[in-house]
Amino acid sequence: MSVTPRWSRKKPHIPLLAVLLLVFIACSILYNEFSIQQIHESPDHAPHSQETSFTYVKPNLPKGASEVLDRFSSCNTTRNYSGKKIQWVDPDAKSGRRSRVNQESCDVFSGRWVFDNTSYPLYKESDCPYMSDQLACHKHGRSDLQYQYWRWQPHNCNLKRWNATEMWEKLRGKRLMFVGDSLNRGQWISMVCLLQSVIPANKRSITPNAELTIFRAEEYNATVEFLWAPLLVESNSDDPVNHRLAERIIRPDSVLKHSSQWEHADILIFNSYLWWRQGPVKLLWSAEENGACEELNGVGGMELAMGAWADWVASNVIPLKKRVFFVTMSPTHFWSQEWESRSDGNCYNQMTPITLEGYWGSGSDLPTMRMVDKVLSRLGSKVSVINITQLSEYRKDGHPSIYRKFWETLSPQQLANPASYSDCIHWCLPGVPDVWNELIFHFL
Ligand SMILES: *[C@@H]1O[C@H](CO)[C@@H](O)[C@H](O)[C@H]1NC(C)=O
Ligand SMILES: *[C@@H]1O[C@H](CO)[C@@H](O)[C@H](O)[C@H]1NC(C)=O
Ligand SMILES: *[C@@H]1O[C@H](CO)[C@@H](O)[C@H](O)[C@H]1NC(C)=O
Ligand SMILES: *[C@@H]1O[C@H](CO)[C@@H](O)[C@H](O)[C@H]1NC(C)=O
Ligand SMILES: *[C@@H]1O[C@H](CO)[C@@H](O)[C@H](O)[C@H]1NC(C)=O
Ligand SMILES: *[C@@H]1O[C@H](CO)[C@@H](O)[C@H](O)[C@H]1NC(C)=O
Repeated sequence: MSVTPRWSRKKPHIPLLAVLLLVFIACSILYNEFSIQQIHESPDHAPHSQETSFTYVKPNLPKGASEVLDRFSSCNTTRNYSGKKIQWVDPDAKSGRRSRVNQESCDVFSGRWVFDNTSYPLYKESDCPYMSDQLACHKHGRSDLQYQYWRWQPHNCNLKRWNATEMWEKLRGKRLMFVGDSLNRGQWISMVCLLQSVIPANKRSITPNAELTIFRAEEYNATVEFLWAPLLVESNSDDPVNHRLAERIIRPDSVLKHSSQWEHADILIFNSYLWWRQGPVKLLWSAEENGACEELNGVGGMELAMGAWADWVASNVIPLKKRVFFVTMSPTHFWSQEWESRSDGNCYNQMTPITLEGYWGSGSDLPTMRMVDKVLSRLGSKVSVINITQLSEYRKDGHPSIYRKFWETLSPQQLANPASYSDCIHWCLPGVPDVWNELIFHFL
């Protein structure tokens, strides 16, 4: 008898505990979900608690009194970076998740190089009247020509086969513009060489201009253009010829000087990287008068510039009307010990690609890649990534090294040691940039 009441008195305790436990579990799940959701929903540009000291600058405002930077610009004073950031807002961000254009079942950027001397090269160096003396390696003495015979083979699919006529059909009535530095100019020359052979000589022309060079094909009413803008934002290096300056000054919050030239293009192909790898940059904010600069490291400067660029893309690109591509960093091959231990050369005399899957050289900065990835992800379907870094990493054999025209006279010491003046940055044509353009063709 006594057992029953005690048992019955205890009986409600167990369900109560269970209920309390369930309520506790439910609450913690709800709480967690809520806080996760809050994190997801907080806009990236909103100041986080630990960042409240940052000031946010709205980029690309029409210029007031601030003067245009040129190679004669200088800073009156320089202080440390103030921490100001670029505030860019995607006006379409609230319209739900957007799919990335590059998200197809096969990752065409993951693959290997296959020797293929039947379909490659796609054109002959000597057949392209627009070839640059900096990239014509055979003409400048390179005798091993295997570098021209490699095809990029994605692991799980095939790239669309290059077809110049089909590309011209895609370009009919359109302006295709490359915007960036000398690597991007190389890709532009590659594109012109890939395309020009099917146009009769009297139906094509090239107009060299200050920063903008235009290749025209009359019968397609189409142009393939290159705009020199190595830092994307306005800078003191915007002169396409005289741009080697000790002091790099940028307007971190404005692309307007360049965007006024690129805004009418239908297809835009941007790049920017190596110019941010040459030490600190000076920032001259638009609101700043009297030439008071701030100094910041290259990656930090590039992040600001990418913000100003992304602001332009976010507010000006309607994906069905304009295509925008961003080409990731082009690798360099200055230290052969990175692919062959105990060697002390560079890209000079390298005749075959690296076969080690996933090889990554120290010149391709990972924090920069992560920053670029983050910016491009936020732009969603407004920009397509052409991720050339990994595939070009393998091509230590693809650089001009000593087989190009050099603008400076070479000293006897340099000539005695050819590796010392090798160009391990740019790429011979025909060569690696042709594949970058096949990737553009694949996605267009
Ligand atoms: C700039 O920053 C460096 C490193 O943080 C510091 O050593 C230096 O004193 C600062 N200079 C000025 C003028 O604030
Ligand atoms: C392609 O390469 C193979 C092997 O190196 C060689 O035997 C052949 O003659 C080459 N074909 C052409 C068209 O160059
Ligand atoms: C190239 O494209 C054109 C136009 O689309 C087509 O007529 C032609 O057959 C293609 N050539 C090849 C070799 O596929
Ligand atoms: C040529 O293309 C431009 C756009 O780039 C367009 O404005 C113009 O109307 C076109 N002309 C012809 C004759 O199709
Ligand atoms: C530097 O300062 C002087 C006077 O303080 C001013 O006249 C000049 O415009 C400034 N330079 C720049 C590049 O702003
Ligand atoms: C490019 O590909 C590499 C791997 O090859 C990856 O780590 C990186 O995040 C990619 N970058 C972008 C911007 O998609």
